[in-house]
Amino acid sequence: MSTQLQKTLTEAERDRRVLELYDQLIEIEQRLIPTGLHVFGRPSEVAERADMLRMIASFDRPESGVRALPDLVSENLGLGSYTALINAASSEHERLAKRERIDGIVSAAIAEFLQSGSEAAASLLEQTANIDCQESLPVFALLEKISTQLETNNEVDALLRALRGEFIEPGPGADIVQNPEVLPTGRNTHAVNPYNIPSTMAFVRAEAVASNLLERYLTENGRYPKAMALVLWGLDNIKTQGEGVAQAFWLLGVRPVRDALNRVTEVEAIPLEELKRPRIDVVMTISGIFRDLFSPTVLLLDKAVRLVAQLEEPPEMNCLRRHVMEQLSSGFVFDDAVARVFSNAPGNYGTNVNFMVMDSQWNRDETLGDLFVTRKCFAYGRDSEGRAVEGREARAAMDQALTRVEATYQNIDTFEIGITDVDHYFEYLGGISKAVETRAQARPSIYLSDSLSRDVRVRSLEETVRLESRAKTLNPKWYEGMLKHGFRGVAEIESHVSNTFGWSATADAVDDWIYTEVAKTFVLDEAMLDRLRTLNPHSAHSLVGRLLEANGRGYWDADISILDKLREIRSSLEDQLEGVA
Ligand code: BEZ
Ligand code: MG
Repeated sequence: MSTQLQKTLTEAERDRRVLELYDQLIEIEQRLIPTGLHVFGRPSEVAERADMLRMIASFDRPESGVRALPDLVSENLGLGSYTALINAASSEHERLAKRERIDGIVSAAIAEFLQSGSEAAASLLEQTANIDCQESLPVFALLEKISTQLETNNEVDALLRALRGEFIEPGPGADIVQNPEVLPTGRNTHAVNPYNIPSTMAFVRAEAVASNLLERYLTENGRYPKAMALVLWGLDNIKTQGEGVAQAFWLLGVRPVRDALNRVTEVEAIPLEELKRPRIDVVMTISGIFRDLFSPTVLLLDKAVRLVAQLEEPPEMNCLRRHVMEQLSSGFVFDDAVARVFSNAPGNYGTNVNFMVMDSQWNRDETLGDLFVTRKCFAYGRDSEGRAVEGREARAAMDQALTRVEATYQNIDTFEIGITDVDHYFEYLGGISKAVETRAQARPSIYLSDSLSRDVRVRSLEETVRLESRAKTLNPKWYEGMLKHGFRGVAEIESHVSNTFGWSATADAVDDWIYTEVAKTFVLDEAMLDRLRTLNPHSAHSLVGRLLEANGRGYWDADISILDKLREIRSSLEDQLEGVA
């Protein structure tokens, strides 16, 4: 009997694992993987356009009166809500199969559209998913417009006109999937009206993210985090119309209020009965770009913190107020106890943590977090007298606020730039996480989510590093795309490896197998190494050096035979660079 039970459990467990694995494979497959760099003036290719159009068609476009294709397919096949399917797909075999069927029909329709046009694609959907052509044709009319814009490219012409001092028509600055109105490219980018931040849509989307984030922490730790540290960037909040800002509002438990001119100029508390959870203490690090672009929003974030700190609520339901009270009783003045919005000194940008990591200029673990705080400990908002505070150095206040942080988080606004594409994610999210680790004397849980997929998934940093490594750095589709660009492509591969290393340096978030696979793919494979050293020996040399540094600093437990081989190759690359070989 017990053996029988054990066997059943083992089978159930096995099935669950297979489903999880399958879900991860779908996640990687569905990511929009850039297959090369954008070449100025060159329109996108057909395969690239198909992926882009599929992503664009996966969202409702109320501004064009167009429904999302997966929803149309799901509803017309009698499979119910597509959103419900994607939210539960990972745990149920049947739902996963339905989702796969829908995604397959959508991809086939997009392929048909690119090959034979709107009418053919609409009639395919009529046959395969019972969708009346009248319902799908508006979707394809929109895709036709976007596809034509992707096929044309005015960038060189616009640049020449700009150089002649001529007028360049403006267009919005956003992510193409979020807002296809960014097309055609080659226009003058206008950004955003800060008084419309966060937009109504952003505030709705942020509720799901904040709640998934807190659920995840609750599942892993058995309670809500007392305090979180958030990173807010300017360009991201332009592209998402303020989703990062809205997430901070939800965590604090406040909502934006619009004035008679429809401008967001106030916040009000969401009652605890409605919120149904404690208000979280939120420490915000804003980039210099955010500070410069969103002055009214900076004031609003500070206003939200001060509002929550003054709500007479039970201490266990208002973590922020509890912490401010504790800080007051340990001698802080109110304006320091309540400081939660930090950025660089006026006129300064960045954390420099990326430069320190890239140049290997640190010896002690805490140095990177200390540098982050040194650069970012300037408080913004208004003081208790209502006077503007524009970058008051408040290091003790920031140090103190970070001692209570248990989770750090950043929203990713686009598939195109992920956490290993640029060094800015690890300088910010990694930098603050390291600063927390030293001050709170415990490594925080580190989370990310992205705004662009339909399912609002919160991932740990470790999961995100694995996903990016599989989808990009170690994916032949990605690196072959890069290698087509020759010298620059090898530099991109090296930069991905260095940015991955940045996540070891700041957050110890990289599994050994990732470095091992990087070594096997790019260095130990002789044919590949030959290609890299011919195209760009400098980057090849740096890549091998970075792998050896990862081992030297204790981030990668590598086989001795691999290390010996890497040393030998590094020395031969040095000879090549010095012209000895
Ligand atoms: C920003 O948009 O705020 C930003 C962009 C790049 C690096 C850091 C911040
Ligand atoms: Mg390790």
